[in-house]
Amino acid sequence: MQIVQTKDYAEMSRRAALCLASEVAKNPHCVLMLPTGSTPEGTYQALGTLYREGFVSFQNAVTFNIDEYVGLSADDPHSYHAYMQEKLFSCIDILPHNTFIPDGNALDLQKEAEAYEQKIASVGGIDVLLLAIGGNGHIGFNEPSEAFSRQTGVVSLSEDTIRANARFFQNENDVPKRALCVGVGTMMQAKKIIFLCSGRRKKKAFAAMLNGPVTPHLPGSILQMHPDVCIFHTNFEED
Ligand code: PGA
Repeated sequence: MQIVQTKDYAEMSRRAALCLASEVAKNPHCVLMLPTGSTPEGTYQALGTLYREGFVSFQNAVTFNIDEYVGLSADDPHSYHAYMQEKLFSCIDILPHNTFIPDGNALDLQKEAEAYEQKIASVGGIDVLLLAIGGNGHIGFNEPSEAFSRQTGVVSLSEDTIRANARFFQNENDVPKRALCVGVGTMMQAKKIIFLCSGRRKKKAFAAMLNGPVTPHLPGSILQMHPDVCIFHTNFEED
């Protein structure tokens, strides 16, 4: 595990973007798995800059998103489809047919989850997983529980997560209660993990993730078991 403390959020984002872009430059057919939320926004912005400066092209890259809310269509402004379009895909040269996000509006969610796993397997698995953590230790929407999830499936959001994500919606009641989410088992098969962590409300989960026991009660702790994790974090002074 490589741990890099940066002076602030902007530096964390630039360093992480450079690390990810270097992987894509080395392997243009790189398969990426990507998060949403506030934490990676700066990294996505920095990736846009690196693309515009000619450092990297995503023309042959493939992306899979970690999760999507159940019940939101791709054109809903709160969906992660919309988030990815706005924050990253519109800023780089990735080809739309190489981007995959679970369909949270699928009639048969279980079938959609299985098809998503098969699609990941069909391209040879994930090369680089970009990941953040929730204040409760979740990764993606894999919430604290009695066992680590293995594969993509339908998950229920915890009260903590609903409360934390209410800031993206009109009010808490509008936050979907379920999501389709890639399993911890699938995440752990990524060849490399680039992990981002910033903000006061993450400090405790981050310390527990690094130094506490590996437990599904803090899903991020599983990263202790991965052979190639590169962590970029701030000093947690910012909000
Ligand atoms: P945030 O959430 O980046 O919006 O803080 C990350 C997460 O909950 O996984």
